Amino acid sequence: MTSPDSAAAHTASGQGALPPPARLEVEHLQSYSAPLEGRRGLLRLDFNENTVGPSPKVVAAIRAIPADHYAIYPEYDGLRQAVVASLEACAGAVVSRQGAGTGGGAAVGTGTVAFPGFTADHVGLFNGVDAAIHAVFHAYGDRGDQLLTTSPSFGYYSPCALMQGMTIEAIPYHLPDFGFPLQEIHAALAAPQPPKLLLLCNPNNPTGTRLAAEAVLALAAAAPRTLVVVDELYEAFTGDSVLPVLAARARAAAAQAPAVGAVIGEIQLPEAADPFAAFPNLLVLRSLAKTAGLAGLRIGFAIGSPALVDRVSRVTGPYDINSFAVTAAFAALADQAYVEAYVAEVAQARDWLVAQLLAAGVRHHAAGGNYLLLWPRAEAAGVEARLRQAGILVRSMAGKPLIDGSLRVSLGTREQMQRFWAAYAAIEALQLA
Ligand SMILES: Cc1ncc(COP(=O)(O)O)c(C=O)c1O
Repeated sequence: MTSPDSAAAHTASGQGALPPPARLEVEHLQSYSAPLEGRRGLLRLDFNENTVGPSPKVVAAIRAIPADHYAIYPEYDGLRQAVVASLEACAGAVVSRQGAGTGGGAAVGTGTVAFPGFTADHVGLFNGVDAAIHAVFHAYGDRGDQLLTTSPSFGYYSPCALMQGMTIEAIPYHLPDFGFPLQEIHAALAAPQPPKLLLLCNPNNPTGTRLAAEAVLALAAAAPRTLVVVDELYEAFTGDSVLPVLAARARAAAAQAPAVGAVIGEIQLPEAADPFAAFPNLLVLRSLAKTAGLAGLRIGFAIGSPALVDRVSRVTGPYDINSFAVTAAFAALADQAYVEAYVAEVAQARDWLVAQLLAAGVRHHAAGGNYLLLWPRAEAAGVEARLRQAGILVRSMAGKPLIDGSLRVSLGTREQMQRFWAAYAAIEALQLA
């Protein structure tokens, strides 16, 4: 406890009076801050953002907001439905792309695939997925509860667990290819005292490790007492989401239902069942930050059974998402073609960069997501600094288990990757063919 005397001493020594102590966990917590200053005007390959910005339709929608609307609290009507509609449009685009056999081309905006049973109540709105993660821990994490996750993974899970006083078990990925530790996670879930929370990042940031949607569902089914949260921030780059799988199951169930109705002479088709009925412990996180290019506006979604979404939403403020983000989200969700085209561009840029890395013999690891890891021959921090001098930001993975000494490089357009590669090859004095 701080005595009035020691508070006065602090003032005298210029440190200012100490505030009343916060919760014990908070007093021990280091604030989570990413090095995000002074990035404008540089080629930002450090935070896996969209590197070209949002759809022009988003820009037009924001410009069209009348000034007097700034004075009005935000309204969220219709936004949750728009999220469901965008899932259907996204699945439609994937189907048409596969049908066209283009294998990654930009076949876009063609039709929808039904997600029966998905309703507005399945969608929670948050001030970015960071806020959704925070809300999950706030709603579910008690002192002494365990968080089960993988290592290395997204950096915000641990501080959220620590601020609740939770313990953390982080299971390492399998070297050499950062394979998912499926058996270990299953074993941990089967412990007599199972973890309160399992956080899976799929594909994983930063290793890109992918886990098939069916495997995620099997984990959730095996652990009904554990809340399983799947952070699908980068799923657009892999297509491994659990949501289309749940939708396909719901469609199959609905296809059975009319026959039953006909036998008993019902005219009205039964309402589609809740697609999360078998997975009341599963929550899926999605964001408009990365692919749609709205990182600065902060908006993300949590998708799960209505009862679960309701609980996680109880710990947020009534207006946590601002009106600009709402307007931008409507426009971005309606422009699936823009996202599809960006994802296709990134896929091509990735292939090009991986080919250069292979030809130059640079150790690298490229799996899911709009990022890859590479290991410079020179010390990583020095290479990172010299890239910054060349106007290019990448993220050093110094201190991260298994990947210490690597750089994480976000993938943008092919032109941007060419610029990165020219600078990197010069810094590392690579002999290029
Ligand atoms: C895996 C993962 N989850 C969540 C976030 C945060 O997303 P948002 O910008 O929607 O808060 C990030 C951002 O880097 C991330 O990489």
